[in-house]
Amino acid sequence: MTTTPTPQTQDELKTLVGQAALQYVVRGEIVGVGTGSTVNKFIDALATIKGDIKGAVSSSVASTERLKALGIPVFDANEVESLAVYIDGADEIDGSGYMVKGGGAALTREKIVAALASRFVCIADESKLVPALGGFPLPVEVIPMAAQHVTRRFAAMGGSASLRQKDGQPLVTDNGQHILDVTGLSITDPLAFESEINQWPGVVTVGVFAHQKASVCLLGTAHGVKTLAY
Ligand code: 5RP
Repeated sequence: MTTTPTPQTQDELKTLVGQAALQYVVRGEIVGVGTGSTVNKFIDALATIKGDIKGAVSSSVASTERLKALGIPVFDANEVESLAVYIDGADEIDGSGYMVKGGGAALTREKIVAALASRFVCIADESKLVPALGGFPLPVEVIPMAAQHVTRRFAAMGGSASLRQKDGQPLVTDNGQHILDVTGLSITDPLAFESEINQWPGVVTVGVFAHQKASVCLLGTAHGVKTLAY
């Protein structure tokens, strides 16, 4: 008797959902592609059907490099009017499809590509499903000269912001900006929270994806891929 091994590691769960996302890719079209270790699994899977799609719009330099290395044409976001689907990971996703994103510092371009798409398919392992957003430090991309001002505003609402570092220096995003990671927040109303933070001067993008929430989440579990529709 042969049995199919149950995927156990986080890496295996990411592979599983990366492959499962292929069913949402519309053949003959351009697909929106996110950023991160789960999306890397999706990009690898996408390469197996690259002859069936026109190409991709990418949300980061890292994803662009991976797509191109696998022979998948990459289009600039300005070259497309709309996309049928955008596929990306998340740091947290709740029961309504609201997400926290930006662990890979690509949140601004991710939100732009998501906004072009009719459907956001989130791919994640089950550790990302949470009852309420706010456990993962909230990434916020800021104009460097506004970092301290924005830090004080988060402190006034009970949050603690720290400037993300890389190799002992402030991390610089693909857009030439910095990232604050904010802990201690209570995000009870993701839509209102996103709207409020977005209008603070110097904030480029807040990592709450409520206005661009997931339509579907493919969740990798020990029992296989669970599909959550919102
Ligand atoms: C990058 C992101 C990623 O989607 C998020 O951090 C999840 O990444 P991973 O799949 O590596 O866990 O928002 O900015």
